[in-house]
Amino acid sequence: MYGLVNQAIRDMILVNHGEEIWAWVRQRAELEVDTFEGMEPYPDDLTHRLVMAASVELHDDPHALLRAFGEFWVKYTAAEGYGPLMDMAGSSLPEFLNNLDDLHARVGVNFPQLVPPSFDTEEHDQGTMHLHYHSSRQGLAPMVIGLVEGLGDRFDTPVEVEQLASRGEGADHDVFSVRYEPPQTSPGGVIEQP
Ligand code: HEM
Repeated sequence: MYGLVNQAIRDMILVNHGEEIWAWVRQRAELEVDTFEGMEPYPDDLTHRLVMAASVELHDDPHALLRAFGEFWVKYTAAEGYGPLMDMAGSSLPEFLNNLDDLHARVGVNFPQLVPPSFDTEEHDQGTMHLHYHSSRQGLAPMVIGLVEGLGDRFDTPVEVEQLASRGEGADHDVFSVRYEPPQTSPGGVIEQP
């Protein structure tokens, strides 16, 4: 994955746990570098090693870490200059979830070796959406849960995410139910500004 992802994991550990813990994680993951080039691709194995090393050093479950990382990523990318790309993807949670593939297609303009995930959405009930996640990588479903929660924060929309099908348990791909509070509409059907 591109260095931007590894750099974000590093920053999350530094911000939440400080230099000393990061040094231990680095050592355990057998990293030869202290920082990553955001625009350079790195082997996926390095990202995997980072997550596993952080999980040991922080005494935290890798799933919990990936989930926290997903949430962190939404703020991190916005702060690292990708805010306008995020803005283009939509102004509400459901609209944004519908546009995730377009978002990564735009990201791919600057990251030519990007191997992005792919998402499909299905309107289930009023306020519930099914999110289908396809990836060439295994094991990142918990990150998707955190990402959707982070997007809920971004849009000030309370959200509950539940995994309905899991590749780890033999399903063809991961599926999530995303229950969100629909934006308030006035009787005239106009979305009220907060
Ligand atoms: C402007 C914001 C974003 C940028 C710049 C961005 C960029 C990236 C990059 C560089 C990767 C690594 C892939 C690779 O190197 O081949 C990635 C992976 C990923 N992105 Fe995004 N992304 C953004 C927003 C999002 C959002 C909002 C979601 C929400 C679902 C998301 C879901 C994922 C997932 C799940 C992966 C893991 C790769 C996989 O599943 O195969 N991204 N993204």
